[in-house]
Order: sequence, then C-alpha cells, then structure tokens
Amino acid sequence: MARESESGLPIEPVYGPADLDGWDPGRKLGEPGAYPFTRGVYPTMYTGRPWTVRQYAGFGTAAESNARYRRLIAHGTTGLSVAFDLPTQIGHDSDAPLAHGEVGKVGVAVDSLEDMRVLFDGIPLDRVSTSMTINAPAALLLLLYELVAEEQGVTADRITGTIQNDVLKEYIARGTYIFPPRPSLRLTADIFRYCTARTPRWNTISISGYHMAEAGASPAQEIAFTLADGIAYVRTALAAGLDVDDFAPRLSFFFVARTTLLEEVAKFRAARRIWARVMREQFGARDPRSWMLRFHTQTAGVQLTAQQPEVNLVRVAVQALAAVLGGTQSLHTNSFDEAIALPTEKSARLALRTQQVLAHETDVPATVDPFAGSYAVERMTDGLEEAALDLMRRVEEAGGAVAAIERGLQKAEIERNAYRIARETESGDRVVVGVNRFRLDEEEPYVPLRVDPAIESRQCERLARLRADRDRRAVAAALDALRTAAEGEDNVLYPMREALRARATVGEVCGALREVWGSHVPSDTF
Ligand code: 3HC
Repeated sequence: MARESESGLPIEPVYGPADLDGWDPGRKLGEPGAYPFTRGVYPTMYTGRPWTVRQYAGFGTAAESNARYRRLIAHGTTGLSVAFDLPTQIGHDSDAPLAHGEVGKVGVAVDSLEDMRVLFDGIPLDRVSTSMTINAPAALLLLLYELVAEEQGVTADRITGTIQNDVLKEYIARGTYIFPPRPSLRLTADIFRYCTARTPRWNTISISGYHMAEAGASPAQEIAFTLADGIAYVRTALAAGLDVDDFAPRLSFFFVARTTLLEEVAKFRAARRIWARVMREQFGARDPRSWMLRFHTQTAGVQLTAQQPEVNLVRVAVQALAAVLGGTQSLHTNSFDEAIALPTEKSARLALRTQQVLAHETDVPATVDPFAGSYAVERMTDGLEEAALDLMRRVEEAGGAVAAIERGLQKAEIERNAYRIARETESGDRVVVGVNRFRLDEEEPYVPLRVDPAIESRQCERLARLRADRDRRAVAAALDALRTAAEGEDNVLYPMREALRARATVGEVCGALREVWGSHVPSDTF
C-alpha cells in the first residue's frame, strides 16, 4: 500500500527498474552544472566549494546585531543574513507610533545610514556576502549597504549579497508589503536595472517559497507558486525593456527543507529542471547562467516543536541533510529553541555546528547529486515536476501570478493544504514526536533569551540626534527629487540613494513614496 507524500503523491514501498522504463537520463538529468541542471547548478558542486553557511540573525540595535554577526563569523559562518525588525520591514521609523513595541524585536532596527554603518562596523564588505531579508523597502537597504561599502572603500561593483525583494509572496503569505502591486513591481524593475548597471555581483531578488511552505503549502505548491512568481518578475523586467540575459543570472530563490527528506530532494531537483526549461524555452534566455536556479534553504520553522525542544536538533539535522542532498547553494539551520523564543548564543551555535558536521564529518559533499539514477528519487522528481507544472498551468490560466493572487488562488490552495495538515495532526494520523505521540507528562522549564525593552527608547534617542545633526534643507531637497522621480519614469534608486546619503531615514524615504504611490489596502483575497 503506497503512502502519500506531502504533495499527495504515492510513495511506493519498493521501486525497481520498471519504474524507470523509458526514462532518458540524457534528457532528464544532463551533467551537473549543465542544462537542465537537475543534478545541480555547478559542475563540481560541493566538491568545488561547500554551500554557504548563512545563519539568519538580527535583533535589537545595530550594535547588538553587529556583535552577533562577528561571533557567527568567529564560529565559522561563511555568509551573513540580516533579519530586520517589523518597523524597518514596512518602512516606518523606530519613533513612529506604528513602531511602538516592535522596535528591535523580530530583527534589527535600521532607521538610517548611521545604523547601517554600525551594523557592519568591522565587517569587510568586499570579503563577505550579505543577504538582507527585506522586501518592500529592499531598495533602501541595498543602497544603505552600498553607501556603507563606499565608506569602507569598497566600490559598488564589488559588493555581493542578496535582497529578498519578493513582494508578491508578501501579498500571498507574509504581509510586509507597503505599496500597491503596480508601483511595487515598478520598483522591482528599477532595482533590476540599477543592479545590472552598478552592482553586477548582487543578487537582486530571492523569490521565496519558504513563507508559503510555512503557511501550509505542499512541496508541489511551494515550487509551483514560487516559480510562477519568478515568471511574473521576469515578465515585469522584460516589459520594462530589460534584456533577459542582463538580469536573469542574478535572480535567486529561497525554499524550505522539510523533515520528509526524500520528497524534499526530489522537490529541489524538479524545481531546477522546470526553471531551466522555462528560462530557455519560454523566455529564450541564451546565457546558461539565466537557466540556473540558485537557491537558499532554511529548515522548516513550522516543524519545530515547543514540547521537548531538544528533539528539534534531530529534525533540523534531517532537514539540513535534505537541503544538502538537494543541492542548495546557501543554508540556514534553525535553532532548536526557536519555537519558544529568540535563539540563545548556545542554541545559535548548535545550529551552525549542525551544518559543519554535514560539511566536514559526512561524505555527502564528496560527490554530486548522490541520488541521481535512484529509482525512488527519480520517480518522485518526475512526479513532483508533473504536479508543479499542473499548478503552474492553473496560475497561467488565471492570468499569471499577480492576477491569481488578486483572485486568491494561491492563498486558497495553501489554506486547503494547511487545513489538511492540521486535521491529520489533530487525529494523530500525522505523528509529531513529543506533541501527539511520545509525550512527556511534565515538560521541563526552558529559560529563553529576552530582548531588552529599553531598546526602543535608545533607538529613538539615536533618531532624535540624527535629525538634529543633519542638513535639514539637503534632506528636504533630496526627498523632493525622489517624489519627482516616483511621479515620472526615472529610476527612483538614484535620488533615493542621495536622500539616504543625506541621512534621510527609512521612514521618511518610504513616506515620500507612499505620498506618491499610496499604500496597499488588502481586499479579502488580496
Ligand atoms: N563551482 C564554481 N563556482 C562556484 C561553486 C562551484 N562548485 N560554488 C559556488 N561558486 C561560486 C558562485 O558562482 C558564486 O560566484 P559569483 O557570486 O561570482 O556568481 C560564489 O561562488 C558564491 O556561490 P553562490 O552564489 O552559489 O552562493 P552564495 O551564498 O553567495 O549565494 C544565493 C547563494 C542563493 C545565490 C544567494 O541569493 C543567497 O545567498 N541567498 C540567501 C537568501 C537568504 O539568506 N534568505 C534568508 C531568508 S530568512 C526569511 O525570509 C525570514 C524568515 O521568515 C524565514
């Protein structure tokens, strides 16, 4: 009796040669680092360079987060990943009424060039790649990063990193949007054009399936809706007059890694093959780098349990192994205590050590795509590819990702799957160790790390000093120039950079754009 996978596909108890009858490895696999990239985006993969250990971190003030980044680098992390607090994510200053109680809570508070300078103090921006999980105000944080690099003597063409900048998934599953869809996509195109001209090594977007997965999407839904968003961004850039091979090599992706290892490996392999075909066949991209689906993975936060939290160490290890066997370029491993509170120093270090054990104690990095040719995983890869393509066709029939979002298609599908998961967990059909089976009568107490509430007042004092010290007239003139560009067709990133250089704040810059573009007001489905 076949068990159902997370995507509702059969997992046979035994696979054999008959399951790959007529299966053409030349067409289905290709060589590692070659079209259709099923086996990985680079010919040598981890035998050439290990994946980037990129731990998502950030809380409190820029100084506190800077200290955490320096410790992570000292412990061996090989890429930075900045978490911003909610006010920064939705373009409000720390002293805005809306920000009260959220300053420095789920990430670091960045209001200005001064905060960004402190955030990267002592970190050489020509030698580290930095991911910034920022969406609606992504342009501002990229420009602040460029300005700090410039102060370090690092020219814009040498900075490496990624802005998440994926506003479509914010409408579907996360909610940190600011502007309505049309100006948001215009801003995305402006960023692509700006980066092509000035920061050629910067990844302009991290098209994310992670948050949809955390909201309940199945593996097939995760890759289908993410790649459909990718197609919408490619169309936006083409409509803005960009050449596909100018911007496509710097698109990147972000997926989850669940505990269901076999299906997750198949998911990553199917996603690479679909994207390669979409970019070469549908958009006519000629540069092989445009066909490559490079991605970051984070282990599944939603599968962490508050009960017996140490058991999460095992879940994260299995999920991280799935990501590595699936060929991820960059990886974040969750801390075992994250279902309870912000990670402690020790739990953050354990998360890092999990990756280091995989990278240095196992033989997994010694060979490329070890599951290639596996009866089970190749059948599952084909099955996921078919299921994802069916869903992508449905999105196309609805008019593409934006139109489908407006109709609530993705949201409805994800919610339906989330309900199924909840029902199965409730009934015990879906075992969650420590939660609905193998429980403890008495949970042991856990002392989490607390964020100091005085952060908000300290950050507001910094803002008051910044506003008193800067050249008020220069800031006002720069913001006027930004409004003018936003009203017209000019790329807004150039006047935006000069406003930030004059120490306009994140809230003031986003405020100027809100005045011109308005704020997105969600309908019941959108
Ligand atoms: N052979 C040859 N070259 C290789 C190689 C190999 N085997 N392996 C790597 N390289 C090269 C690459 O070509 C690249 O060179 P380039 O920059 O000149 O192209 C360089 O080495 C670095 O390799 P990668 O680009 O593969 O690895 P990075 O780590 O630099 O980039 C990425 C990975 C996925 C492309 C990038 O977009 C990235 O880092 N993304 C991270 C996104 C992220 O961290 N998001 C966090 C989200 S948390 C969140 O959303 C909040 C919460 O709610 C979850």
